[in-house]
Amino acid sequence: MTFSEIIGFGHYLPEKIMDNNGLKKFVDTSDEWIFSRTGIKQRHLAKKEEFTSDLAIKAAENAFNNFKIKPKEIECIIIATTTPDNTFPSTATKVQNYFKIKNIPSFDIQAVCSGFIYGIQIADSFIKSGKYKKILLIGAETLSKIIDWKDRRTCVLFGDGAGSLILSASKKQGILASNIFSDGQWIDSLYADGGPSLNQKVGKIRMQGQDIFKQAVKKLSESTLNSLAECNLTIKDINWFIPHQANQRIIASTAKKLGIPQDKTISTVKFHANTSAASIPLAMSSAYKSKQIKKNDILALCAIGGGLTWGSCILKV
Ligand code: ACO
Repeated sequence: MTFSEIIGFGHYLPEKIMDNNGLKKFVDTSDEWIFSRTGIKQRHLAKKEEFTSDLAIKAAENAFNNFKIKPKEIECIIIATTTPDNTFPSTATKVQNYFKIKNIPSFDIQAVCSGFIYGIQIADSFIKSGKYKKILLIGAETLSKIIDWKDRRTCVLFGDGAGSLILSASKKQGILASNIFSDGQWIDSLYADGGPSLNQKVGKIRMQGQDIFKQAVKKLSESTLNSLAECNLTIKDINWFIPHQANQRIIASTAKKLGIPQDKTISTVKFHANTSAASIPLAMSSAYKSKQIKKNDILALCAIGGGLTWGSCILKV
């Protein structure tokens, strides 16, 4: 039996940092309001001329260099993003072109903040089917470019960044279980009010924050339990819980509901804010770099985003 082994991680954050006080020049807000409601203190912001593909390339390079993997070994590139450089072609083809990898499939997937979990299941299925042996999966976003900087209910929540994961065909089982879901009845709770077919505009983020909060805690915890059951593990087997980094209160409430202690929960939302599809690989790679996560640790990942879409994954590093 062929499994997917995790053979590399990477991440990249744009240089520019804006703390909560910096937001005061756009909206009527305060560090106290933002931190107490979300746990966010700062976010990284891409420059005008810095695109999602630039962040994705740097996150991939970081994994290639740190784990001694050559770009030409990659047989498929998947990018989870809500903020592609262009409506088309995909951001993944730009990354492919940068690394000069010819004649492999590259494509973007759109499941908003759950995109990275969707990507794990797609990559794992490709590898298990025997179709591809090494897959580069990236979550990359420049959400700052679709924020309404006049809307204080949303502009304080998001940031830019990218994270990458390289999966390889192996006898070692890295991906132990994954589950992905969606329910389109919630499309009006979180969406961008633009699109190529809708109004030929990119649109800005619109959100019903309280709806999302309630759904997030319920769906993230249920999905994590589904994935644990699928691989015959329990909460006690998890070394690290890495939920989507939307908001510290969602992270803490979900961990509490699952009975996962705070010291087993990775949280980077304070420094990165919500980077949508990039948040989990960014948190995972940062925690690996700081030696919190070690080889053979068991991680539980879960995410929820617009749609709603949601899902979870249990993996062994
Ligand atoms: N600064 C100061 N005041 C603010 C701000 C701000 N940035 N934003 C809203 N307020 C005000 C509102 O205007 C309102 O004032 P009013 O009562 O005078 O009208 C008051 O604060 C309360 O507003 P609510 O929207 O009711 O605030 P709430 O307690 O629900 O907190 C929050 C808002 C933090 C967004 C919360 O609903 C939440 O965490 N939701 C989850 C949403 C989320 O994380 N989304 C991320 C994208 S989805 C995802 O990634 C899963």
